[in-house]
Amino acid sequence: MEPVYRQDYTHFEQHVEKFLHRAGWTVTNTHSNQPNYDLVIKKDKLVCAVQIKWLRNNVAAPQLLKFANFLDSNEGKKFNFGLFITTKGFGGPALALIRSWGKDAKIRCAIALENKLVGIDGVEYEDRVSDHKTESNKVYFGIFTCKGGVGKTTVAGHLAGAFALQGFNVALVDLDPEQNLQRLVGDGVFVPNPKGVGTSIEVFDGRDWHEEAARDSKIVICDCSPALERNPRQLIEKFHYCIIPTTLNPLGINKHGKVIKDTVKGIREINEQAHLFVLVNNFKDPGARRLQLLKNTYFETYQEVRQTDDKFHCIDPEEVCIRASDLLYYWGIHILENPENPSSQLAFDLIGGRCFPRDDFINLADYIERKAGLGILRGQQESEEISTTYADLSRGTV
Ligand SMILES: Nc1ncnc2c1ncn2[C@@H]1O[C@H](COP(=O)(O)OP(=O)(O)O)[C@@H](O)[C@H]1O
Ligand SMILES: [Mg+2]
Repeated sequence: MEPVYRQDYTHFEQHVEKFLHRAGWTVTNTHSNQPNYDLVIKKDKLVCAVQIKWLRNNVAAPQLLKFANFLDSNEGKKFNFGLFITTKGFGGPALALIRSWGKDAKIRCAIALENKLVGIDGVEYEDRVSDHKTESNKVYFGIFTCKGGVGKTTVAGHLAGAFALQGFNVALVDLDPEQNLQRLVGDGVFVPNPKGVGTSIEVFDGRDWHEEAARDSKIVICDCSPALERNPRQLIEKFHYCIIPTTLNPLGINKHGKVIKDTVKGIREINEQAHLFVLVNNFKDPGARRLQLLKNTYFETYQEVRQTDDKFHCIDPEEVCIRASDLLYYWGIHILENPENPSSQLAFDLIGGRCFPRDDFINLADYIERKAGLGILRGQQESEEISTTYADLSRGTV
């Protein structure tokens, strides 16, 4: 049976208030007058916003991102930090987000258990995901559109980075004759995390690819050639997921729609099983009214395919998209600056503790996991195993 404190939101909220009160905070309940936080807590000169999530499942990355975005807003800036407290735990992508934000981030996350509040620090996380590396089945992704310059290589490289941040070794297979991936990430990238432990991304030339070559990689991401017939058929057959990048550009939506429908037709002739996701890349916020207009056109364009193919998904850009970012635009500038010896890197540098591409790609990885049941990649993440004392939370070291 569910313990009393977890039975419903009200009990859980009271439970959390009790902990905070005991730890010396003055607690004010906003009584749901506030969509962005549930409690305001004060101690000495510190004022903090607390978001309480009563959930039966692990926290997903978008739920955390929403709170992080609020803390970055003008209203959120009034608070010294934000506390995000939940019932069960944090899913892998959410943990990766927390870890990517580092220790100085304004957001602290915790789980309220029966008799203690447990902070997240991500140390044990690394050990636990490594258990899954030994499983033999690989998960294949294709990044594909019959069109150049829409962000295939960018998406392939950074999605690999998002998985690497979660502790998976990833193999990137370059199927594009332009071989941009190989030029950009060389023979591989090491993705460090704040704890200094990291994961590797290995890059393979499509012509050399065979499964044994990437024995340690659970995830294989193929940066496809825009000409479908130039991609090895044996690889397309293996795809579990295909990501089709596009842009929400007003004059281009219909044109891209045509290209994408052809793309889907081509893939389906070879692979009927893969989940296909259309992803908006290079997204610029056009304002609420225009966004609605663009979105309507976007969804209408694919309506027919969606109705006939239940594994075809058009991702709502308001839920997941890759925003236009200078970091991504200049990703790769190093191969022009230093063609002899380009260093391998991704556009994941933090600016003021945040990084759009990093947040967006972790969000994408999380979305795929939720929508397509990528849970096979990992067992249940029992965040409750992670133990940091509650004292650390109030000292701000979590
Ligand atoms: N979200 C983005 N924001 C800014 N620039 C981007 C973004 N996505 C891609 N680009 C830039 O657009 C260009 C084309 O992207 P690329 O990944 O090479 O496309 P493709 O592999 O489909 O040909 C690159 O210069 C890349 O840096
Ligand atoms: Mg490319």
